[in-house]
Amino acid sequence: MTGRFITIEGIEGVGKSTNVDFVAEHFRVLGETVQVTREPGGTPMAERIRDLILSANRDELSDLGELVLMFAARAEHLESLIKPALERGETVICDRFTDATFAYQGGGRGLDPAIIDNLRLAVQGALQPNLTVLLDAPIEVSAERIAGRAWQDRFEQEQAEFFGRVRAVYLEIAAREPERVKLIDASQPLNTVQAAIKAELDRI
Ligand code: TMP
Repeated sequence: MTGRFITIEGIEGVGKSTNVDFVAEHFRVLGETVQVTREPGGTPMAERIRDLILSANRDELSDLGELVLMFAARAEHLESLIKPALERGETVICDRFTDATFAYQGGGRGLDPAIIDNLRLAVQGALQPNLTVLLDAPIEVSAERIAGRAWQDRFEQEQAEFFGRVRAVYLEIAAREPERVKLIDASQPLNTVQAAIKAELDRI
């Protein structure tokens, strides 16, 4: 595969959407064909799975069911969108990917990372993002933004301790894989955050 696969990660409210757009624009200006997508979701079927997950009440869906649905959505997304685009040599920018599963289902829900890793291997084999931008901020920043939302999905309804565990796993992944995962302090002003992201994009 000749394309480039870039993922953006972080807890809610750290400015992922704004920075996904920023990364996409960076590569468009370079003349690359860019696919901007997200997980769970990105294809019609995966978006239906996303709706199922995010609209489920806490007691309607088990933690294991949630994990498997995340990978079901990912399998569809990989087969119909991500892999074909990478094979055509395009740049794929994805708002969240498998690091989110380790962080939310592993850290947040407390599921065994070995089970997650088995599913990862079954669904994506050796495919990994070329670069992952991890936007990190204290959970208070995220809690404040979520509190202002009229409707809160299955994850947004979780408490601070949940997001503390999610954030801790993200930071562990960044420490373990510093070549792939670039940790950016998202509590800085937006132009400082974007200058830091740009420096990483320029390197690849
Ligand atoms: P978002 O599109 O607003 O980021 O919402 C997606 C939610 O799904 C978010 O709360 C994180 C969660 N999520 C997981 O729990 N596991 C995953 O593997 C992915 C991709 C997302």
